[in-house]
Amino acid sequence: MSKILVTSALPYINGIPHLGHMVGCLLPSDIYARYMRMFGNEVLYIVGTDEHGTTSEVGALKEGMDVQAYCDMYHARHAKTYKDFNLSFDYFGRTSSPQNKEITYHIFEQLDKNGFIEERTVKQIYSIDDKMFLADRYITGTCPYCGYEKARGDQCENCTKVLEPTDLINPRSSVSGSSNLEVRETKHLFLNLPKLGKRLAEWIKTKEPFWPDVAYTIAQKWLKEGLQPRCITRDLKWGFPVNKPGYEDKVFYVWFDAPIGYIGITKQWSDENPSQRNWKDWWLNAKDVRHVEFMGKDNVPYHSITFPATLLGTGENWTQVDYLKGMSYLTYEGGKFSKSEKRGIFAEDAVKEFPADYWRYWLMANAPESSDSSFSFDLFASTVNKDLNGVLGNFVSRVLKMTASKLGEKVPSDGEYGDMEKELAANLQTKVNDYFKYMNEMEFRKAMNELRGIWVEGNNYITAAEPWTVIKTDEARASAILRACINLIRIFAILSAPIIPQTSEAMLSKLGLTLKDIPLLKGFDINKELSAIKGGTPFSVGEMLFERIAPERVEELKQKYGSSK
Ligand code: 2FM
Ligand code: ZN
Repeated sequence: MSKILVTSALPYINGIPHLGHMVGCLLPSDIYARYMRMFGNEVLYIVGTDEHGTTSEVGALKEGMDVQAYCDMYHARHAKTYKDFNLSFDYFGRTSSPQNKEITYHIFEQLDKNGFIEERTVKQIYSIDDKMFLADRYITGTCPYCGYEKARGDQCENCTKVLEPTDLINPRSSVSGSSNLEVRETKHLFLNLPKLGKRLAEWIKTKEPFWPDVAYTIAQKWLKEGLQPRCITRDLKWGFPVNKPGYEDKVFYVWFDAPIGYIGITKQWSDENPSQRNWKDWWLNAKDVRHVEFMGKDNVPYHSITFPATLLGTGENWTQVDYLKGMSYLTYEGGKFSKSEKRGIFAEDAVKEFPADYWRYWLMANAPESSDSSFSFDLFASTVNKDLNGVLGNFVSRVLKMTASKLGEKVPSDGEYGDMEKELAANLQTKVNDYFKYMNEMEFRKAMNELRGIWVEGNNYITAAEPWTVIKTDEARASAILRACINLIRIFAILSAPIIPQTSEAMLSKLGLTLKDIPLLKGFDINKELSAIKGGTPFSVGEMLFERIAPERVEELKQKYGSSK
């Protein structure tokens, strides 16, 4: 048994997660955590809301709320959405917690003591009417290159040119619209990344054989381009006040304390569960912990460069990332999800339309891994109808209905397994081994393909074995075939549990079982599992597992959630 620490990028508190956020880090991390638990590993799965920064201050201002109340409200909303999606966190915390503050202060003090913090004076735009310094992206104006009137101070969305706020024509504050702006000098603290570069490069080298290409390439690119000192403080009110004399009126930059949040949230979990092992057993001088991080690809530099460098600079032995899974983006019908433009389905609405498992399966089967992928209601309905309803759902209902009507509501006991079952077991074992291989490698699309292939084997078997014909001449043989099929239902439920846990529970409950009755997956042997449910065990046919999505419903959904075309 090993200890596996699973984290997902901590979602920004402001804004409600859409399907892209779900598949970008939250869902794959949940599936990995569930899967690893099923092998008997000691898993700690930690997530929480990323709460600091200008976006929270501005968001609260726009909703006319106090920032703390705003964060409390959105934290609860995030928590509910993830619960509805059945994410199996061990703890869902907050980066604004006192525990995170304590650890952030400690890490900063160590960095300062070790000479990795430097002071610099920078020029920044100050909004006189808003009485605040504005982050680059909170300044709007006309793009000097393409004339787009709503270009942001960091980048023009229209022509994608990277900008400085001073490049903008007619710059104004995005907070209030005021153009009463001026450039002011302000003092900030910087993390001296160049000074940590050598140590960081050595550390990254040790990871080369284990990191996926995308993460390793991004990290190497940053190292090659030369590391720059990173500003870790901001002129804001909402955040942890900087614990250094002369900087008390500033706060730490959100990207300084957010990844430390993984540690802070673990301490929150530990503090609230005194029976649990100490948080340090996972993070400080921890033995045998494998840390797996999930995130969108834009987060990779922070997790492969800045955060590891921050931890290295403390001179202490913090747990570093062992495997970093970076995902690409999911688009909505080829365009952006946008709450304000009412385009795309957001996670909290998604679970009101269909059970979480429909989304969980679709999203993982179409996960944006090697490249971006696109959601559309047509694709969604087609996958649900074909794979979930057509292959898995129909198999379960067909087997149980046929057995109940021909032989009664008990698993039939007569007859022996023969060559067909041997072949079935051999085919399935190959697919199961591949499924496990891809799940271990976090190649989710490939894993889902194998899982679907496993369900298809059930349909192929029953079609070839024809129990409905055999029963007319040889009831004992038909009974053995249906017993094999009922055992397949249990096998499918077990293997599908990390992906569609509610459906797995529903399948098992038809057989009088729950997920707690399931053995560990280590050494999963199809031959053995095909005989796990004995003849005479009662079962119930119950409801269909999935509902077919009709074309009219698809049209309704398209109308309701908008189209990017
Ligand atoms: O991109 C985001 O949603 C960030 N809030 C991720 C932070 S990850 C970690 F550092 F907290
Ligand atoms: Zn432009």
